[in-house]
Amino acid sequence: MFAVYAETFSTDDPLSGLVVGERPDPEVPDGWTTVTVKAAALNHHDLWSLRGVGLKEEALPMILGCDASGIDEDGNEVVVHAVVSDPSWRGDETFDPKRSLLSERYQGTFSDKVAVPRANVVPKPASMSFEEAACLPTAWLTAYRMLFGQGDLKPGDTVLVQGAGGGVASALIILARAGGLRVLATSRDESKRTRALEIGAHEVYESGARLPVKVDAVMETVGRATWSHSIRSLRPGGRVVISGTTSGPKLDDAELTRIFFLQLSVVGSTMGTRAELASLVTLLDATGTRPLIDRTLPMEKARDGFSAMASGDVFGKIVFTR
Ligand SMILES: NC(=O)c1ccc[n+]([C@@H]2O[C@H](COP(=O)([O-])OP(=O)(O)OC[C@H]3O[C@@H](n4cnc5c(N)ncnc54)[C@H](OP(=O)(O)O)[C@@H]3O)[C@@H](O)[C@H]2O)c1
Repeated sequence: MFAVYAETFSTDDPLSGLVVGERPDPEVPDGWTTVTVKAAALNHHDLWSLRGVGLKEEALPMILGCDASGIDEDGNEVVVHAVVSDPSWRGDETFDPKRSLLSERYQGTFSDKVAVPRANVVPKPASMSFEEAACLPTAWLTAYRMLFGQGDLKPGDTVLVQGAGGGVASALIILARAGGLRVLATSRDESKRTRALEIGAHEVYESGARLPVKVDAVMETVGRATWSHSIRSLRPGGRVVISGTTSGPKLDDAELTRIFFLQLSVVGSTMGTRAELASLVTLLDATGTRPLIDRTLPMEKARDGFSAMASGDVFGKIVFTR
């Protein structure tokens, strides 16, 4: 079948190991089903995979892609939950030490078909396109859990979103606004700051700029480049929720003194549960809120999408269609 996969790793030139070609049909273990892929969204995770982060050499070649929407074996329109937990695991799947994401241990979604555990398919509402639905399982689910799960934010709270242009960051802005929060956002790029206002941010600032108010919570996916600013932007007792380190995990200054003196919380967040994905789908269906799609490309042109993400030339999600 057609597939977009990682053949080798390269830290400096991740696209050198990317192949747009053919792979065997997926193996379907007992209790699993296959989904015919209609749309799949690109995540920074796919670039990390090509750099060899989170993916083992012996797993190559590996079909990339965590996110998909499509049609299951019974003809239902579905969204795929990307977190695969151990069959014996009960409760929050993101806490399972043996969990993996599609494209880490099991083949990913950038292909004609993807095999997933039966429990990993969630109904797609008719109101939502396949392209929109494909944005939800990673970036949007992560944003949802960061804000309303790990962040415990409520209407009226003030939140800062760092790096407005990213897939998770744009989801954070749109969802935070839909959830009744006051939304501040930063970006290095003026045009991205303007776009952030258009999608729901109340105020935007250059990366690192001093804010006129202290915020209840900061949503972090950038890491080293914005960490100090995130900690300095919090009110006493505030909380930073972190789900990524795009600019690197090693900090120049962890701001430890400020963290204890102002009694700040640093909370990690990773993906979300199947139940949270179902709640997110319901929220979007009910409110008409929709993912922001930067561009839609046929999956054969996946390399163009990877290049855009690698250069940071993106605002919202890049979606591949079959
Ligand atoms: N834990 C999880 O479950 C989970 C799930 C999804 C994603 N993630 C992680 O979260 C991160 C974001 O993912 P994504 O898919 O949203 O990636 P993305 O679409 O590539 O977004 C990256 C954004 O980070 C900002 N950025 C990058 N380098 C920066 C720098 N040096 N200084 C300031 N800002 C910088 C940019 O914002 P501006 O250009 O607007 O400044 C950029 O738009 C990745 O590291 C990813 O691995 C984790």
